[in-house]
Amino acid sequence: MSQSNDYSLAPFDLVLFGGTGDLAMRKLLPAMYFRHHEAQLPEDGRIICIARSDLSTEQFKAQMAESIHSHISKEFDESSWATFCDRIHYLGIDITVQEQYEKLNQLLAPHPDRVRVFYLSTAPGLFSRICRGVADAGLVTDNSRVALEKPLGRDLESAVAINDELADVFNEEQIYRIDHYLGKETVQNLMALRFGNYLFEPIWRREHISDIQITIAEQLGVESRADYYDQTGAMRDMVQNHLLQLLVILAMEPPVSIHPDAVRDEKIKVLRSLKPLVGRDVLDNTVRGQYSGGTVDGKPVTAYRESKGVAPSSFTETFVAIKAEIDSWRWQGVPFFLRTGKSLHERRTEIVVNFRNVPHSIFDMPRVPNRLIIRLQPEEIIKLQIFAKGRGDEMRLQSVNLDLDFNEAFEKRQMIAYERLLLDIIRGNQTLFNHRDEVTAAWSWIDPIIETWDQYQVEPTPYAAGSWGPPASSALIARNNCGWIEECL
Ligand code: BG6
Repeated sequence: MSQSNDYSLAPFDLVLFGGTGDLAMRKLLPAMYFRHHEAQLPEDGRIICIARSDLSTEQFKAQMAESIHSHISKEFDESSWATFCDRIHYLGIDITVQEQYEKLNQLLAPHPDRVRVFYLSTAPGLFSRICRGVADAGLVTDNSRVALEKPLGRDLESAVAINDELADVFNEEQIYRIDHYLGKETVQNLMALRFGNYLFEPIWRREHISDIQITIAEQLGVESRADYYDQTGAMRDMVQNHLLQLLVILAMEPPVSIHPDAVRDEKIKVLRSLKPLVGRDVLDNTVRGQYSGGTVDGKPVTAYRESKGVAPSSFTETFVAIKAEIDSWRWQGVPFFLRTGKSLHERRTEIVVNFRNVPHSIFDMPRVPNRLIIRLQPEEIIKLQIFAKGRGDEMRLQSVNLDLDFNEAFEKRQMIAYERLLLDIIRGNQTLFNHRDEVTAAWSWIDPIIETWDQYQVEPTPYAAGSWGPPASSALIARNNCGWIEECL
């Protein structure tokens, strides 16, 4: 999905705000280490980690080694670890105190022409402070970029405010809004599947597809993130971004080229043609759930409301199911069933495209549709379910799979999404990042749903941890003569 085939990297300074945080340790630093280990980073590439703690670079490196070890153990190599550590610098900065940006200035000043990436892996409330901080300290050069983690705001109004503040300091071409799902290989493969093959495009429309299901199911619960999660909920944490991005890639028209603007133009059109859900439509087409106690993978799980840091009467949803529709010639009348939840039965991110039944069956067989199943995680698999005659005298059809297992097909190790995203920011390739108009369009569709939930005081329906969500989720899809895939295998 790159706009050019030039994958080389210019010298860079990657400045990680939130440098001691969970994301830096679990994903960002491991991602950079993997690429360093594979000799894909230029010699002149530094990683400057910034956090509040008053640590020396050596102390930080010791802390980093401990925190990221389990995330890089498969690729760990003593000598590349040592050279990776040479790239690391640490600065203890209170980002609310302007004078302290001077420390960063001293480190960056000798290399004014390098690509500079300010990566904001902090609470969204700090985004604009940091942007102003680096701007007022004179650190923003023409070759600078800013990368922001989701969620961008908590509704349309706050997202617009953040985007306006960013625009005061950076051009849109310098802003990289991250949705890490776009960095996943299988998500990029959706584009390859749709637009690199002749086979699917002619049938990728309402005449041939009856419904599409998109599931992001997690076994993890709220864990230690109650501070963030209880204020956020599944709708803002997962639906507004990851789920809508998957929907958009599935539903978009073929872009005229792979150029970032061409791809984003098509994505934005889909977001704008989502049929608005307002008032009673919200009550009929959405399900809001919250996990109660149960067992996930054989281990007991405490109810969400009893988890550390969660208000005992919390209304925050940990599960959402939605029937979405797209007002367009291609998709009119095709429901897109979206669901996501925490503490569910299985970890599985999967897209199921159900094709229409044969108009008249000459075989004695249940009328089960052909299906295209695209599993993004934990395994990367694409399966086309078709029917074939089983062996024997009888003309009995059986469902069989045409399978593509990425692990078997490709020798290269499975990358983590952030490797691709971080390197694309340094390269200056915006294809896998969200334009501000996408963020605005996504919130415009989400806001009325959340407002209606608030207005009607829709309390999340409890579901047992380890289940597939509340029964209302099955009822939602059953009302449309469909069933979630695990209900109709
Ligand atoms: C994050 C959410 O964006 O995505 C988390 O904040 C969620 O709540 C995570 O667990 C899921 O990502 P992945 O890549 O594990 O599916």
